[in-house]
Amino acid sequence: MVSSNNITWHDSEVTKAERQKRNKHKSVVIWFTGLSGSGKSTISVALEKALYEEQVHTYRLDGDNVRHGLNHNLGFSPEDRKENIRRIGEVSKLMVDAGLITITAFISPYQADRDGVRALLAEDEFIEVYTLCSLDECESRDPKGLYQKARNGEISGFTGINAPYEAPQHPELIIDTEQDSIEVAVNRIIEYLKTHHYLNVTPE
Ligand code: ADX
Repeated sequence: MVSSNNITWHDSEVTKAERQKRNKHKSVVIWFTGLSGSGKSTISVALEKALYEEQVHTYRLDGDNVRHGLNHNLGFSPEDRKENIRRIGEVSKLMVDAGLITITAFISPYQADRDGVRALLAEDEFIEVYTLCSLDECESRDPKGLYQKARNGEISGFTGINAPYEAPQHPELIIDTEQDSIEVAVNRIIEYLKTHHYLNVTPE
C-alpha cells in the first residue's frame, strides 16, 4: 500500500549493471533465517570477513543492530516483525542496487514475510540460508540469556518458546549449525556463490 502521492521515480545515470561490472561481482541478498542462537549472526560476520578478503563489496544487516536504529520503534508482535522484515527487504533492495553483496541476519520467522522480500528482488538476487539448529541446542547455547528469561515468563512471544518459527520450505542453502563448523558453513556459502557465478565475474 503506497500512501504518498505525486511522487516520481528518478533514474540514476549509473546503473546497477555498471556498479556490478566495476565491482567484478554480482549483487545479491544472502538472507539468513533461523531461531535466535542458531548461528545467523556468527556465520554472517565470518562470511562478510571472508568475502571482504576476496575484494568483495559487502554490507551486513543484523536484527539486534537494526533494531537499535532504523527499526527502534518496532517490537516483536507478528505485525511488527512483518514491518521489520519489510523495511529490511526494502533496504536490502537498495543495497543490491548499490552493487553490494548484502548479508542479512534476522530471525524472520514467517515464510510469507521472507517470500515478500524475495518478491521485491529479481529471481537470482535472493539466497535464503536456513541456519538449522534444534530448539534444545539454541536454548542450551542461550548466548544472550533470553531463552531463560522467556522460560521464566519475563519475555512474552519469544520465538520458539511462545511464538512460532516457520522453517523455510525451499531455502537455497541449509546450514546445520549443530554439525558444521563456522569455517565449513562459510566455505559452503562461498562455494555456492562461485558455482552460481556471483563472484569473479564481469556481469554484462
Ligand atoms: S524478527 O523476528 O523480527 O526477525 P529480529 O531478528 O529482528 O527478529 O530480532 C531478534 C533478536 O531480538 C533476537 O536475537 C533477540 O536477541 C532479540 N529478542 C528480543 N525479544 C525477542 C522475542 N520476543 N522474540 C525473538 N527475539 C527477541
